[in-house]
Amino acid sequence: MKVAIAGATGAVGADLIGLLEKRNFPVSELRLLASARSVGKTLTFKGQEIKVAELTHNSFKGIDLALFSAGAGRSLEFAPSAVKAGAVVVDNSSAFRMESSIPLVVPEVNPEEAFKHNGIIANPNCTTIQMVVALNPLHLAAGIKRIVVSTYQSVSGTGAMAIEELKTQVHDYVAGNPLKHEIYPYEIAFNVIPHVDVFLENGYTKEEMKMVHETRKIMSAPNVKVSATCVRVPVFRAHSESIQIETERKLSVEEARAILEKAPGVEVFDRREPGGYPTPKEISGSYLTYVGRLREDISTENGLAMWVVADQLLKGAALNALQIAELLLTRPKGQGGLA
Ligand SMILES: NC(=O)c1ccc[n+]([C@@H]2O[C@H](COP(=O)([O-])OP(=O)(O)OC[C@H]3O[C@@H](n4cnc5c(N)ncnc54)[C@H](OP(=O)(O)O)[C@@H]3O)[C@@H](O)[C@H]2O)c1
Repeated sequence: MKVAIAGATGAVGADLIGLLEKRNFPVSELRLLASARSVGKTLTFKGQEIKVAELTHNSFKGIDLALFSAGAGRSLEFAPSAVKAGAVVVDNSSAFRMESSIPLVVPEVNPEEAFKHNGIIANPNCTTIQMVVALNPLHLAAGIKRIVVSTYQSVSGTGAMAIEELKTQVHDYVAGNPLKHEIYPYEIAFNVIPHVDVFLENGYTKEEMKMVHETRKIMSAPNVKVSATCVRVPVFRAHSESIQIETERKLSVEEARAILEKAPGVEVFDRREPGGYPTPKEISGSYLTYVGRLREDISTENGLAMWVVADQLLKGAALNALQIAELLLTRPKGQGGLA
């Protein structure tokens, strides 16, 4: 495959390059694209230095697969050019996710949707991906009616510059210097900020409403009720979520645990003792979605509560995108695949 990465110099781009190598994706040529600022930089793939080129409408000649991670504006502007040039686009941004003609895919949940594309496949929001990987198996078993979720999102979810901002603030704090902040409205070091993405008219943020709309689309559950509170925390990598669900049919903790233990992409990490649960630091770098603190929600009839953690740069972005591309390799071009 001739593969292009638009946004190769970013946080997701770095993991895309790493995963193409680690998962032995069949790459015959890798084109690394970013803004004009990055032209001249080199990045390493399989021991070879590759020069970064500027993302333009002419970047995709001969490309089979274009992985986009350069923000929604760039996806809207350049993804159509990639499709015109004959590439299949897997897009990490929010640009196309809610378009009815564009599949929104989590391979563990709705793999068949990937083959129904017209050139573009959308990768869901990171917070949504890990939630549906954990919840869809329970939904299939007992019908989820309502989800209440609070997120604890790492700074790498905002991109490479936010990682630097947290590092700098920690250094300045230790050195006794005043802290500066540009990316977030408050200092993120030693703080939590209940605000991810822009505010909407209903009082929720865009990130919170992505969790509502994307969950319904991916799980084909248009009536499921979702209320999310998205919070940024001073963690470098991996998002955590406290989730409560109400189901049509009562699911015991034992039954839910048995279902999750067999679920694709899920690891149950749930011992009721100190350290018997996943934390973002412990699971960073893993491909799996971890479920811990599984218990009955004692505030409602048919309720369960749990703690779900995943590496959002991997499962929430680069890995999910690559899993979609790997799915496409299983079918010929005439059937929506890439083979
Ligand atoms: N971070 C996550 O956990 C995560 C999870 C799910 C989805 N996403 C989505 O993935 C995308 C990338 O996120 P990120 O966290 O990797 O951001 P990032 O670290 O800020 O990287 C942004 C990338 O986009 C490139 N870019 C920016 N402006 C450009 C322009 N005008 N023309 C060409 N390239 C341009 C940057 O290139 P330069 O280095 O040259 O500026 C860089 O390669 C976003 O749409 C984000 O919403 C991120």
